[in-house]
Formats: sequence, C-alpha cells, structure tokens
Amino acid sequence: MNQSATQSKVAIIGLGHIGKAIAGNLIKGGHLVILASRDLEASKALAKELGPLATAKETREAIREAELIIPCISFSALNDFFKTNSAELQGKIIVDVSNPIAPDGKGGFKKIIAENESATSVLHEGIPKSAKLVKAFGTLGAAALISDAFAQPERKVLFYASDNTNSNSKIEHLILSSGFDPLHVGGLDSAIRIEVFGDLHQFGALGKTVTLTEAKSKLINPSFAGQ
Ligand SMILES: NC(=O)c1ccc[n+]([C@@H]2O[C@H](COP(=O)([O-])OP(=O)(O)OC[C@H]3O[C@@H](n4cnc5c(N)ncnc54)[C@H](OP(=O)(O)O)[C@@H]3O)[C@@H](O)[C@H]2O)c1
Repeated sequence: MNQSATQSKVAIIGLGHIGKAIAGNLIKGGHLVILASRDLEASKALAKELGPLATAKETREAIREAELIIPCISFSALNDFFKTNSAELQGKIIVDVSNPIAPDGKGGFKKIIAENESATSVLHEGIPKSAKLVKAFGTLGAAALISDAFAQPERKVLFYASDNTNSNSKIEHLILSSGFDPLHVGGLDSAIRIEVFGDLHQFGALGKTVTLTEAKSKLINPSFAGQ
C-alpha cells in the first residue's frame, strides 16, 4: 500500500529547533510534511534540504491543506497565532508542543504561568471551538528528539495527552512515523505531567528518555503529579 495514502496531512509552523527536529524525524520515517514559517524562502530552502517528502507553503495555505497543525513557536506567541489564523484553524487537530518557560537569569529556566497550570490549559481557551487540542512532541529537548528517534533495539517513548479519542490514532501514527512509541498519559488535564518540570518530562522528574516498559511504570506510579 502507498504509505502516503494512509497519512494525515501535517503542517509544521515555525522552523526553529523543535520544528526542524520534528520535520526531520517525520521525513526519516517516510511521512510527508508541509513546512511554514514567517520566511517562505527559508521554508523552501529547508524543504529542499529535507528532500521530496517536504513542501514549503505560506502559513495560511499550510494550515488549510493539513489536518494536523504543529505550531513550533514560543508559548507567548501562540495566542496571537491562534487569533491571526482562527478561520484556517477551524476543525483542525492542533498539536501543542509548547513549554511555558523563560530564562531565569541564572542560567536556568522558570515557569511563567501558575505552578498548577499547564501551557495547554492556558492555550485551550484561545483555539477555535471546532479545533481539537492535543499535547505532544514537547516532552524532550530538540537534541534528544533527534538523537533518540528510531532507537535500536528498543524504541523510546513520546507521551501525549488528549481529550478527544478520535484524534488519538492520528497522533499515535505521527509519533510512530517520527521514530518513537506513543503513550497516552490521559486527558488534557494531564498535560502538565509532560511539560517542563512535570514528572514525565526530560527536564522534570523523568530526567531522561525511556522505553515503553519504563514509561508505563512511571505512568502508574507518578512521583509528581504537577502539584
Ligand atoms: N527547543 C526545545 O528543545 C524544545 C523542546 C520542547 C518544546 N519546545 C517548544 O517548542 C516551541 C518552539 O521552541 P524552539 O526552541 O523551536 O524555538 P525557536 O528555535 O526559537 O524557533 C521558533 C520559531 O518560531 C518562529 N515563529 C515565531 N512566531 C511565529 C509565527 N507567528 N508564525 C510562524 N513562525 C513563527 C520563529 O521564526 P522567526 O525566525 O521568524 O522569529 C522561529 O523560527 C516553544 O513553544 C518551546 O517551548 C522546545
């Protein structure tokens, strides 16, 4: 069967560290990707570098064409992005990779929303009512996302959170195509666990990438539930 015929169309918007890492992994896994950023020429250059599975589009066109939208832009820019593109985002699955953090001035990072809130819970208000939000692809730093994709002999896990069970198979397919095993942590109220400082984040209590067996034990024995 032609693999591209079974794929959901995915648009990656914002081609910095994480956008490039996700795009590269998906292409390595044989997935088509639509790339967009504020600089169309830079998107076209990246698409050329990544090969024939990548195409570059202007942002609105990319969103219109795709079913799954992955905005890889800073947490603080996302609300504006949702407002500006609200018509195109109607009915789409929006994959939130963001972490609500900023430099703390001491070489580290601090959370910029309330301790008990997740980026996803804050952003949920701003997306079109007909769009579905999923938290995924933000659990690892960009370097680990690249180095640990397609791990042998056992794959590593990418956690995801979603309320809408209809989106799950599409997200799982995307995570598999990007070289990881998917693991559902629960509804969007669990998103805090897979953001920076959460118990299932590389830069939280988890501290590393894990296999499915290790991940499942962490999932049922949370050492930290974001409280
Ligand atoms: N880096 C990581 O290891 C990592 C890991 C997990 C999650 N995340 C999350 O991923 C998101 C992106 O982080 P990053 O490290 O990849 O940031 P980054 O390297 O600074 O890249 C962000 C990109 O977004 C673009 N951008 C900003 N506003 C835009 C808009 N309105 N429309 C289109 N493109 C826009 C920027 O383009 P311009 O050049 O035009 O400004 C830039 O290329 C953040 O929410 C972050 O919390 C990052």
